[in-house]
Amino acid sequence: MSFPQHRPRRLRTTPAMRRLTAEHRLSPADLILPAFIREGLTQPAPISSMPGVVQHTTDTLRRAAAEAVSLGVGGIMLFGIPARRDATGSAGIDPDGVLNRAIADVRAEVGDDLVVMSDVCLDEFTDHGHCGVLAPDGSVDNDATLAVYAQMAVEQANAGAHVLGPSGMMDGQVAVIRQALDAAGHATTGVLAYSAKYASAFYGPFREAVDSQLKGDRRTYQMDAANRREALIEVELDLEEGADMVMVKPAMSYLDILADVAAMSPVPVAAYQVSGEYAMIEAAAANGWIDRRRAIEESVLGIRRAGADMILTYWASELALWLNETR
Ligand code: PBG
Repeated sequence: MSFPQHRPRRLRTTPAMRRLTAEHRLSPADLILPAFIREGLTQPAPISSMPGVVQHTTDTLRRAAAEAVSLGVGGIMLFGIPARRDATGSAGIDPDGVLNRAIADVRAEVGDDLVVMSDVCLDEFTDHGHCGVLAPDGSVDNDATLAVYAQMAVEQANAGAHVLGPSGMMDGQVAVIRQALDAAGHATTGVLAYSAKYASAFYGPFREAVDSQLKGDRRTYQMDAANRREALIEVELDLEEGADMVMVKPAMSYLDILADVAAMSPVPVAAYQVSGEYAMIEAAAANGWIDRRRAIEESVLGIRRAGADMILTYWASELALWLNETR
């Protein structure tokens, strides 16, 4: 009997063999493109910490959405940057506000060919940069914030969003949004809950992208990086409250959380490869320290392997292009 008896390398001998035996695959349909629109821009504005990502004008946003459709991308997640901010984030509930208009514009462009999603959160709209309204003592007032989220959700559904993404980590946010949508006749509008969203340094470039006014941090509402079990209660509560899909965020430093959630979730699980994850790979690639395309593909495939059914990534369209080429 020859040694070794077992030769797993047989399945790695050729590209065709590796393709046949691959346990996980990416497809453009699994990808969701996060996109920013800024009120009052006449030209798209580059975001220096996210090379290749811009704050869009209405025109360039529509074009990016149309391109995503032609590449077979699954969805788009919209974030708005208003011209004016106030303490309660009132531009977020204004039907003519930048985000609500963008939702309507993108829907007019893509119809039902792309799942149009929008961020339900106040941080882009408040002059203090927190995800909710503040109590007199300066703390983020959970229940007062819920009332604003409910209105914001109804306006986004009126504008034509297929799916809403509440990302503020207020307790009870999915329930109030579901109730408000149903009461307003939007029973078919879905909710992708940012269920296990951690207070993370990897959101740094996003704060530039949305011109965040935040001083301090979000540790009183976003989850503590030390906690694993706690993600499961957050997911269970969101499911009870009516979430149609759940999310883990960030992705790469939270793959254990993603695997735990994927093992227990009866609904589709999303993961958000956030701005800092994008920036790290772009920066290393720009220095010639890693192979850009291989690093992008490997990072997103790793998120899929850990259990994500769908992945929000700023590379969604470029990755879809590559996936289409190699098919
Ligand atoms: C909140 C929100 C944030 C991100 C998505 N939604 C910022 C935050 O919680 O501070 C971050 C996404 C990213 O970093 O790519 N509206």
